[in-house]
Formats: sequence, C-alpha cells, structure tokens
Amino acid sequence: MTTVAPEPRRTRDATPTGTTGTGAPLVPATGVRPHHRVFRVPGVYPVQRDTWLLADVLRAELTDHGCGVARPCRVLELGAGAGALSVVAAGVPCTDVTAVDLSRRALLSTRINAARHGRRVRTRRGDLTAPVAGERFDVVVSNPPYVPAATDDLPTHGLARAFDGGRDGRAVLDRVCDEAPEVLTGGGRLLVVHSAFNDPALTVARLRARGLSAEVVARHEHPYGPVLTARSALLRERGLATADQRTEELVVVRAVRPAA
Ligand SMILES: C[S@@+](CC[C@H](N)C(=O)[O-])C[C@H]1O[C@@H](n2cnc3c(N)ncnc32)[C@H](O)[C@@H]1O
Repeated sequence: MTTVAPEPRRTRDATPTGTTGTGAPLVPATGVRPHHRVFRVPGVYPVQRDTWLLADVLRAELTDHGCGVARPCRVLELGAGAGALSVVAAGVPCTDVTAVDLSRRALLSTRINAARHGRRVRTRRGDLTAPVAGERFDVVVSNPPYVPAATDDLPTHGLARAFDGGRDGRAVLDRVCDEAPEVLTGGGRLLVVHSAFNDPALTVARLRARGLSAEVVARHEHPYGPVLTARSALLRERGLATADQRTEELVVVRAVRPAA
C-alpha cells in the first residue's frame, strides 16, 4: 500500500513553449499542487500533475457552478483511479459524486480515500459510462489513459491500463469525447485532461462536432516522468517529439453541452 504525500512547492521556471498554440493560460509549475493526501493500492495510478491540474479546474468549475441544497451538482468521474478528483469534487458543498473505473483496486482506493477525507463518493465498476447509462450529470471529469503506446491493443489489467491509450494515445480519450455528452445535462460541462502529444485540437474538434462548445482552458508544461522517458524513442519515431525533447505539455479541455 502506498500513500502519496503532498509534494513541496517547486520552483522550476515555467517558460511557455506554446505547443498547443492556444491562448489558454499556462499554469506555472508552482501552481500545480496536490489538493490532499492520496492512498492507493498497488497497481492503481499514482496521482500526478495531470490529476492536480485537472483538480484545480474542477474545483473552480464547481465553485462557479453554484451547487446548492435545492439543486445539488451531480458529478461523474470517468476512470477514477484512486479517486483524487472525486474526493476534490465531494469536498465542494452540495455535490453528489459518482466514480467509475474498470479496476476493482482503483475503486477500493477511491472508497478508502473518500472515507479518510470524510467525503461521500458512490463507486461503480465498469466501462466508462456503461455503469451510469440513463443517468445525467452536471459535470463529467476525466483523466483517461492517454500515453502513446506501441500498439492499439489496450491492456486489460495492471498499471498499464491507466497509462496506455493506443498508438496515438486517443483510444479511450475519443470514447470519453463521444460518450460524455450522452450523460451530460443541458448546460453540463465536460473537463478532460490529456497531453499535447494527443493533439488537443482533435479533442476540441470532436466535441464541437457533437454540438458542444469546447476549448483548452489550462495547460502546464512539466518534465518527462519515467513512463514518457521510457517512450521517448517511440515519441520521436512518431514525429511527436523532437530529438532533445524532455518536457510534455498537459492540457485541460472544457466542453459545454448546450442548454436544452
Ligand atoms: C490516468 S488514470 C487516472 C486516475 C485518476 N482519475 C487520476 O487523475 O489520478 C486512468 C484510469 O482510467 C481507468 N480506465 C481505463 N480504461 C477505462 C475504461 N474503459 N472505463 C473505465 N475506467 C477506465 C484506469 O483503470 C485508471 O484508473
């Protein structure tokens, strides 16, 4: 069992590289910080900067949304992992949070984290929106597996299932873009984080094609971790990274379903 403690503030210079070419604000390295301690069972995604970058956007979204006793905000997390984002959402007053993952270990971790923080999170095991078919949510949040992999065959178990997103990293991400609008209320919002390696313009275009307004609302550049370091040759071969590249840009895309 592993507990990830909050990291100390980092002071790395965060000069924008603008690889997404969007006007979204670049969140400085000092701005992406853990929201809380996270426990995880081995084999569950270790929370990282993508988790906390998305957590910042999620908390602001829910705070702005004006969730109230008369009308609680229903929040769905797709691919909950240890449930860090669900715990953040459940910490905002008047939210009703559901966490979905394929992994039993992930959902066990989510339940433990919710209990440790005194938050209420409903867990459902299954494939993306399948366990909540017929339900509607005000906010859907997701940090799907998006690391470009050697093949399009997605892993069926283990930690790789949290990282590998097929050759272009979009295998699960595209499904999130396609399925999330089906479970959003009119005016509901999707928040999804991924890498500039996955081509954020494709995410925005896919969501717009489904009738949502969509844009990149946050981005953050950080050094490669162990997974991208191990795949740096693959990224270069695919033309996704330059020979000396050692940083990745994360992006958060926000999409809004039109009010009914
Ligand atoms: C990158 S991790 C993110 C975990 C957590 N949301 C976070 O931000 O720390 C992706 C998670 O998605 C889950 N996952 C992968 N494919 C899935 C699918 N088709 N349906 C539901 N969950 C899935 C994995 O088990 C993993 O826990």
